[in-house]
Amino acid sequence: MDRYLVFGHPVRHSKSPFIHTLFARQTQQELEYGLAEPAVDEFAQALRTFFDQEGKGCNVTVPFKEQAFTLVDRLSPRAKRAGAVNTIKLTDDGVLLGDNTDGAGLVADLKSHGVTLADSRILLLGAGGAARGALAPLLAELPSELVIANRTHAKAQQLAAEFCDLGHVTAQTYEQLAGSFDLVINSTSASLQGELPPLAPALIHTDIAIYDMMYGASDTAFISWAKQHGARQTMDGLGMLVEQAAEAFTVWRGIRPGTKQVLRELKRNLGVI
Ligand code: ATR
Repeated sequence: MDRYLVFGHPVRHSKSPFIHTLFARQTQQELEYGLAEPAVDEFAQALRTFFDQEGKGCNVTVPFKEQAFTLVDRLSPRAKRAGAVNTIKLTDDGVLLGDNTDGAGLVADLKSHGVTLADSRILLLGAGGAARGALAPLLAELPSELVIANRTHAKAQQLAAEFCDLGHVTAQTYEQLAGSFDLVINSTSASLQGELPPLAPALIHTDIAIYDMMYGASDTAFISWAKQHGARQTMDGLGMLVEQAAEAFTVWRGIRPGTKQVLRELKRNLGVI
């Protein structure tokens, strides 16, 4: 049977095996999908061993995405732009192809929620790996403006400079942010510590869409905060998780699974519904 797995550390709580097992059942593909948690300095060896032992493909999550970028034979254009790899496929001619499906997953999830990206004014919070992966796919949707704000302003400036060939993208400090945004995407890891990015409440209005790439059984700190200040449309990263997985599955198997039912099952599994 074709073997796939996700590499991460820690990875025990990963939902990827659950999601890909449902995709395989739905599309009648024969495959098994497991977990691997190598020590942080043993990822390269573990990856080699997996593909030497007939592995067909894998996902890569924190903290290995940047390392995976350096270990594959070939990169897709979107992985090159993202500077990170979350999906690896062993091609028929024995090449390890590194791809990145995170940004495509984000855009697909935003669209499934009915969020219009074309001509919109987008605020992206954070300038780490998650922000970098999201930028090219967001700019491909032709927003009127994309502003990056980050606690460490120099990192936002660096990202804006790197992606300015793809659209109207600028960096502003949290204090500089002004005017009306249509969509705010939180790519910071602040919610992990129960913290909030230092965003002025005045930026939240009833017609704004709020997206937090994090998720949990209950609202993230950022989503609770945005709701308190009047945001009506809030979305967490669970849909992005399922959509990036669907994109990876498509890369591996050449068949696109449906995501709606799988997302519902995942919510039930997490106790969200
Ligand atoms: P990831 O790969 O998930 O993006 P990362 O590369 O470590 O993780 O980036 C984390 C991001 O969250 C960074 O933009 C970080 O800001 P700094 O560049 O200033 O470190 C941001 N971040 C983390 N905790 C934060 C907090 N409490 N408030 C605001 N931003 C925070």
